[in-house]
Amino acid sequence: MMEEDMKEILYTKEEVAARIRAMGEQLTKDYAGELPMVVGVLRGSFIFMADLVRSIQTPLELDFVAASSYGSWAVSTGKVEMRLDLEKEIMGRHVLLVEDILDTGRTLSKLVEELKKRHPASLKLCVLLDKPERRVTEIEADYVGFTVPDEFVVGCGLDFNQKYRQLPYIGILKPSIYE
Ligand code: PRP
Repeated sequence: MMEEDMKEILYTKEEVAARIRAMGEQLTKDYAGELPMVVGVLRGSFIFMADLVRSIQTPLELDFVAASSYGSWAVSTGKVEMRLDLEKEIMGRHVLLVEDILDTGRTLSKLVEELKKRHPASLKLCVLLDKPERRVTEIEADYVGFTVPDEFVVGCGLDFNQKYRQLPYIGILKPSIYE
């Protein structure tokens, strides 16, 4: 089973669910009456996004974007491109960008830069996990589920070689799996 590949369970299924419910309650208050456009960044965000929006009680709209980075080249150049764009205009809209993890910050920095050009009424960031030790760009999320150490975390949308995304908990992968 996949659980055997974990060094540790960082947050259990129940802890993740409770945290996302609390985030949803906060967002319900903060976006009351504003019909926010909730934008998920594929692919990692889809599980968090699905749980999050079901915890938000105020009307909203959904859309998705995808960003691509270019392997090891991206590590040195920080080159990130938008690969799938929004369906609708966001001018004057309250946009909430949803991600599974804020790591180096390159992906969200690029997306924020791109979306700000379109003059949304507001643009906020909501991430399940924040790994501040890894940051190379100056960016902070407005809503953070959990702040995590610099470990190989998987589950709740986060993958290793496209695996483990469906795990309902946040686990730390055993080094023997990825080394
Ligand atoms: C992961 C994650 C974020 C990004 C965060 O995506 O989903 O999009 O990396 O890292 P950063 O802060 O260093 O930019 P990945 O490129 O692995 O694609 P995925 O969403 O398909 O998993």
